[in-house]
Amino acid sequence: MYRDRPHPVRLADYRPPEFLIERVDLTFELDEQVTTVHALLEFSRNPAATRGDGSLTLDGEQLELIELKLAGQTLTPAEYQLEAEALRIHRVPDRFQLETQVRIHPNRNTALEGLYQSGPMLCTQCEAEGFRKITFFLDRPDVLSRFRTTLIADQDRFPVLLANGNLVSETRLPAGRHQVIWDDPFPKPCYLFALIGGDLSVVEDQFRTCSGRDIGLRIFVEPHNLDRCGHAMQALKKAMRWDEERFGREYDLDLYMIVAVSHFNMGAMENKGLNVFNDKFVLASPDTATDEDFQGIESVIAHEYFHNWTGNRITCRDWFQLSLKEGFTVYRDQEFSAEVGSRDVQRIADARFLRNHQFPEDAGPMAHPVRPDSYIEINNFYTPTVYNKGAELVRMQACLLGPELFRRATDRYFERHDGQAVTTDDFVRCIEEVSGRDLAQFRRWYAQAGTPYLDIEADHDATRHLYRLRIRQWTPPTPGQPVKEPLHLPFALGLLDDQGRECPVRLEGDVQDQPAGTRVLELRELETEICVLGLRTRPVPSMLRGFSAPVKLRYAFTNADLIHLMRYDRDGFCRWDAAQRLQERLLLRLTQDPTTLIPDDVVAAFRDALRDPATDPALIAELLTFPSESYLADQLDVVDVDGIHRAHRQLASHLGTHLNDDLMAAYAHNQDPAPTEVTPRAIGRRRLKNRALALLMAVDGAKVFNLCQTQFETADNMTDTLAALRLLVDHGGAAGDAPLQRFYERWSQVPLVIDKWFSVQASSCREGTVERVRGLMAHPDFSLRNPNRVRSLIGALCHANSVQFHAADGSGYRLLSDVVLELDPLNPQIAARLLKPILSWRRYDAGRQAQMRRELARVLETGELSADVYEVASKALD
Ligand code: ARG
Ligand code: ZN
Repeated sequence: MYRDRPHPVRLADYRPPEFLIERVDLTFELDEQVTTVHALLEFSRNPAATRGDGSLTLDGEQLELIELKLAGQTLTPAEYQLEAEALRIHRVPDRFQLETQVRIHPNRNTALEGLYQSGPMLCTQCEAEGFRKITFFLDRPDVLSRFRTTLIADQDRFPVLLANGNLVSETRLPAGRHQVIWDDPFPKPCYLFALIGGDLSVVEDQFRTCSGRDIGLRIFVEPHNLDRCGHAMQALKKAMRWDEERFGREYDLDLYMIVAVSHFNMGAMENKGLNVFNDKFVLASPDTATDEDFQGIESVIAHEYFHNWTGNRITCRDWFQLSLKEGFTVYRDQEFSAEVGSRDVQRIADARFLRNHQFPEDAGPMAHPVRPDSYIEINNFYTPTVYNKGAELVRMQACLLGPELFRRATDRYFERHDGQAVTTDDFVRCIEEVSGRDLAQFRRWYAQAGTPYLDIEADHDATRHLYRLRIRQWTPPTPGQPVKEPLHLPFALGLLDDQGRECPVRLEGDVQDQPAGTRVLELRELETEICVLGLRTRPVPSMLRGFSAPVKLRYAFTNADLIHLMRYDRDGFCRWDAAQRLQERLLLRLTQDPTTLIPDDVVAAFRDALRDPATDPALIAELLTFPSESYLADQLDVVDVDGIHRAHRQLASHLGTHLNDDLMAAYAHNQDPAPTEVTPRAIGRRRLKNRALALLMAVDGAKVFNLCQTQFETADNMTDTLAALRLLVDHGGAAGDAPLQRFYERWSQVPLVIDKWFSVQASSCREGTVERVRGLMAHPDFSLRNPNRVRSLIGALCHANSVQFHAADGSGYRLLSDVVLELDPLNPQIAARLLKPILSWRRYDAGRQAQMRRELARVLETGELSADVYEVASKALD
């Protein structure tokens, strides 16, 4: 909690640590109320650092110090100084052993950082700076130590005691206690430390690595969840194999453990050999989890597994380098998902996520580069920019190099930096060395915030058969970066002739004949002119294929161009993008003028897509999914919340009416023969079926309504149940109330499903949702202490329900700031995250602006705000 203004940490101030800690020997006497932590630390002066004043400063927060010994001698109070967040020892030798004993209180730890209680178990979360809440330490990622962990606890309450590495011994102790010792042979930063204590059941399996070693795989859950771990285990084995094949990475320890906990601030955590997961990303069965949940589990399991190399074996020098591990690991999990599922559908999901979450961040007050240069609270920088834009930077480099060279570059990176704490620059240097390229200009992507625009114009010279594209790139200013430099980016271009066939992209000076198809060009200048030869007729440009760079492309496509791309493009991303552009154009016109005519040829294009037997149903579903209301809002100078929502409904009901037969046919045809199967094919068919149902439900009609009700009543998988429930609830009144009641009664014992029950209500566009959410906050199942619950109710309203959250009376904003103020003292990380949707208040009409600003100011005026909330709210009002 801050009293004065918390000050920013700056990349420019980075200094290597003056001391290193070679060995760490920890002993925990675990108990919910009072845990004692005994630490034996071996310090030595870092030869690579400059000598300071001979003192040592350790990080430590909320620790009750009960013993402090240097080289076996208890220190007197005159020899050290204890501050709120540090322990300073006035004089230390070059090499010494330090012994501390502290007391901590897991059951009072509502911030879920450090050691905390989750239901009946004890667990830890140390990234980024949680280890300092466990013991005094050099809590920074460039201090790598070997850890040995002894856990002592009551045998009955905590029969399972886990920590990183290999099991050394298990011993019974007197008075019903036992002791378990773990040793991790790999030096690691303390943010990768973890321990678990609890009465847990385990699912076990094995994996044989490429070199023939057998690895024990274990997933620990509370006993009643044992039958919902199968999907996670399969995903883990797939990920292990894939990383061997695609990146040549073999697992190193003999044991890989995953623990599912129900109170967790984010998705999961890659602690060495002992991943701790939000149970949402482990537990699944077709009756309780949606297809999206199944896919989320597969990708998060893979993500954490991949961190073993990109994060753990090679870690970050400092937290400004967070994208070194997160950007690269997201790239790896995206590639994994693309290869086990559909590449096009995955790429569309990546692009949609970037547009919906990262582009707005880049355009708002919290805009920051992939490698930020300052922060107040590092927890605020686990962002779409660091993760997802960071992944795009890796992807662009992979694209510039091509698969073989890129693999050689990653091989070199793994080999050269294994066991080190490095920077994003070290990564780029490996790419440069292997490829012989100069990426000096490309490096700007890491330092420059903001989403670049590509403004494109084209003309065709029918007599000389020339097609010319003029591309101008520019990036709008962001806070603290008024002037932007041009970037180096891959621009994947295809050209379609009037029959939809690919033309060769032949350029002046080509020595070889170009095959028809995609050509990757490189842009570096503010303006580039591309002159394609040998085109008799004007082609339709298919630009930024595969979303080759994370930019906003502007070009005056005609409707006919877009329809052509939607119909013929081989590139799934560009097909989808064309559909998005058609819908966006229409939706924005309808927003301004509800009497706008919806052209028949556009409707026909969507009909053709629905009828296309050659296209993956998942892709068809994507083509029929409109750009989100919040994305449309970002395209307007002054957001018209109600107009956008009305336009959405209008287009849905127009398609629902004019495509009625085809939608009905798609619905019937994709009624799943294998409703509990979660293969990509089955998932795609359910998506299409449920999208068809949603468009049909936009038109009032008894027949569809009955269909939806029947689906709700008879579905035996959560995807179909929930899709129908959402539509019934949006329908309003009695149509939704009875199903909600039934759903609640059926699932009241399964918290992850009750989360869905809350979120369906909070994300409903029906009138009075804000009031209903306030009511639900008083429901006995609601709790501010469980992040999943907070996200499912408050998060769903504020982040996934534009029209109700931005209700003109300001009630949504009021609710948000009330919750933030109540939550901040309990869990600052979650409180700060909730504020996101009002950060871009400047983009709304005067009335809403004033209301949002008032709530932000009210938050900021509060005396004891966390650094987390302070940073976000103050930057928003700057
Ligand atoms: N490293 C974890 C992951 O991406 C996330 C940790 C997030 N930590 C935080 N303080 N927000 O897999
Ligand atoms: Zn990660």
